[in-house]
Amino acid sequence: MTIAVETHSAPLLASRALTPPRVMPPKRPQGRLAFAANFLRNPLASIPEAVYEEDFVLYDKGRVPLVWITDPAAIKMVTLDRRDDFSKVAQKRLLGPLLGNGLLTAEGQEWKWQRQTAAPMFRHQDLFAMVPPIVQATEAYIATLSRDPSGQARAVDRDMTSVTFDVISATLLPGGTAEMGHAIETSTEKFQASTGWMLLFALLNVPAWVPRPGGATRQRGIHLLRSSVLSLIAQRRGMATKPDDLMQRLMDAKNPETGQQMSDEQLIDNLLTFYLAGHETTAKALTWTLFLLSRAPEWEERLLAEVQQVVGAGPVKAEHIDKLVLTQQVIKESMRLFPPAPQFGRLALKDCNFGPHTVKAGTQVMIPIYAIQRHKKYWTNPDQFDPTRFEAAKEAKISRYNYMPFGAGPRICIGMAFAMMEATAILATLIRAAHFEVSPDHNPEPISRVTLVPKGGMPMHVTRRG
Ligand code: HEM
Repeated sequence: MTIAVETHSAPLLASRALTPPRVMPPKRPQGRLAFAANFLRNPLASIPEAVYEEDFVLYDKGRVPLVWITDPAAIKMVTLDRRDDFSKVAQKRLLGPLLGNGLLTAEGQEWKWQRQTAAPMFRHQDLFAMVPPIVQATEAYIATLSRDPSGQARAVDRDMTSVTFDVISATLLPGGTAEMGHAIETSTEKFQASTGWMLLFALLNVPAWVPRPGGATRQRGIHLLRSSVLSLIAQRRGMATKPDDLMQRLMDAKNPETGQQMSDEQLIDNLLTFYLAGHETTAKALTWTLFLLSRAPEWEERLLAEVQQVVGAGPVKAEHIDKLVLTQQVIKESMRLFPPAPQFGRLALKDCNFGPHTVKAGTQVMIPIYAIQRHKKYWTNPDQFDPTRFEAAKEAKISRYNYMPFGAGPRICIGMAFAMMEATAILATLIRAAHFEVSPDHNPEPISRVTLVPKGGMPMHVTRRG
């Protein structure tokens, strides 16, 4: 089965609805080989069409049975009511070599005390103090942009990764250097290049001793990353006055059950988790949003008018964030169509019922955020870009299990409020300063590489305004 991507030959007119590129699902669940081949190319392309239409779809042709669930009550059961009966083991197999037993991958008591340690850094009222460094990082990027509309196209996906890395280094984890940013970028690319295999092996429960394709390169990347984080920790230990930041809190925290502090390994696990989870995802949200705005010029104009009216000519400040209503609607709609973390899974530890189906312990339960947010039963014109879905009155009616770019239940993204505030401040600052234009021929398929990347990247012509 060939997977096609919907394309448009010309930018859409203001009056026409925009249907951006999407993954075209196979009509029926595929045989084992076709499934694996599709999965390696793009894990989202192995999700059959029925998942966008029904509540539960079982797949029992593979080595390990799996079920995709999109029914809100079932998602609530897995992520909240019976969460202890579902394990993050596949995620741990995929990300464990890089992120060890940090907050994203740990379970049980290990997870709980790490979450409690980090949570105070993410209090809503404290986050607003971080707006100025976020805006400064964005302005530093804007200063590198040309005023020449005929200039070279820029890799805006990479640009956004570097802006959000600068943000995390200037806010939650001060100390990250340009070399470290480079090490992270290089190793993330190496890691992403082999994630297809890694994901498939994790899904199929392949034992750890089976060599993974691309293993040696990935190991080198991981080693490079972990040693740069270790040197940051050593630097911090040598400082006479220690700042009150996330790193220091992690270093000082004691496990209430054992009284022990985190070992160097655990500290590296957590710092890397925050560096990586804390910038790649937001970068992808911004990349896809800029793409959508380039294809929907009427929304670009509306946003520009909003920023000019709310913010004026000075920098975006904390008090502006909640007033940038349309900007937030656009970001939310962008994360509906292109969720930066498009799918996650849990392994069933006990037999359980999903509607008419009884699934056995050992089944992989997939929560396909990408398909949930384009589900035909819950969304009108699910593939169309329409930020008005998130107007306050309409948004209030959306179930938290139908729109869940940040996950759900107690494992919901700890950085959710930070990410929304950050994306709003960055987008408002960018839109007012520059125009981003993607070529009409570039219709990138969204590909899952842990985060949702545009196939072929996001080359755009970026021109400074004024
Ligand atoms: C648009 C941006 C972001 C998106 C779409 C996103 C998405 C997600 C999702 C879906 C999960 C749940 C995974 C699961 O249940 O298996 C998650 C967890 C997590 N995210 Fe985010 N995230 C974003 C930004 C951030 C930021 C800015 C940070 C940190 C500064 C962060 C740190 C984490 C951590 C540490 C976890 C694990 C939480 C736990 O298990 O207790 N994320 N994220």
